[in-house]
Amino acid sequence: MKIGIYPGSFDPVTKGHLDIISRAEKLFDKLIVAVMVNPDKQSTFSASERVEMLRRATSSLPNVEIDSFDGLLAEYAKIYHATAIVKGLRALSDFEYEFQMALTNRKLNADLETIFLSTNAENMFLSSSMVKQVARFGGDISPFVPSCIAKDIQQRLLQEREAKRESNQ
Ligand code: PNS
Repeated sequence: MKIGIYPGSFDPVTKGHLDIISRAEKLFDKLIVAVMVNPDKQSTFSASERVEMLRRATSSLPNVEIDSFDGLLAEYAKIYHATAIVKGLRALSDFEYEFQMALTNRKLNADLETIFLSTNAENMFLSSSMVKQVARFGGDISPFVPSCIAKDIQQRLLQEREAKRESNQ
């Protein structure tokens, strides 16, 4: 059974991520989308919120499983006997960091390949941080995130901004 892992912060999942997931799941018998829980990195959405949003967004894809992890990706891949890690590349600027991670992961787990998928042209500019910025200022994020989660993200970020405003007054 060929297992692929698509790791990331997914804070929150965007249409760019979903495009990579739907293309990558065709390459494996099972694709695990692994939400990274990093205690040193402040995330906007909790790990369980990010997992839940991903589950909703990928509910029509039977080969896709959503999980979270808080250790080394190379070790996580060993546990699941994964064949490869999948990463999406948006632009040349992504490449250096991604290449560094791919080499580190292969040093830690010699059997682990990293496969890079190029994003679709319309998702080149898309990032979770940009989505959050638009949502916090009340902009329409529906072109950027899966439609089933757009409203929840928008509401949550507007509420958060209101709460911050009130605490600053
Ligand atoms: O969506 P992101 O934030 O670009 O994802 C980065 C992620 C989660 C893939 C990366 O930080 C990661 O693999 N973290 C796990 C820790 C690890 O294995 N580090 C060593 C390899 S660089």
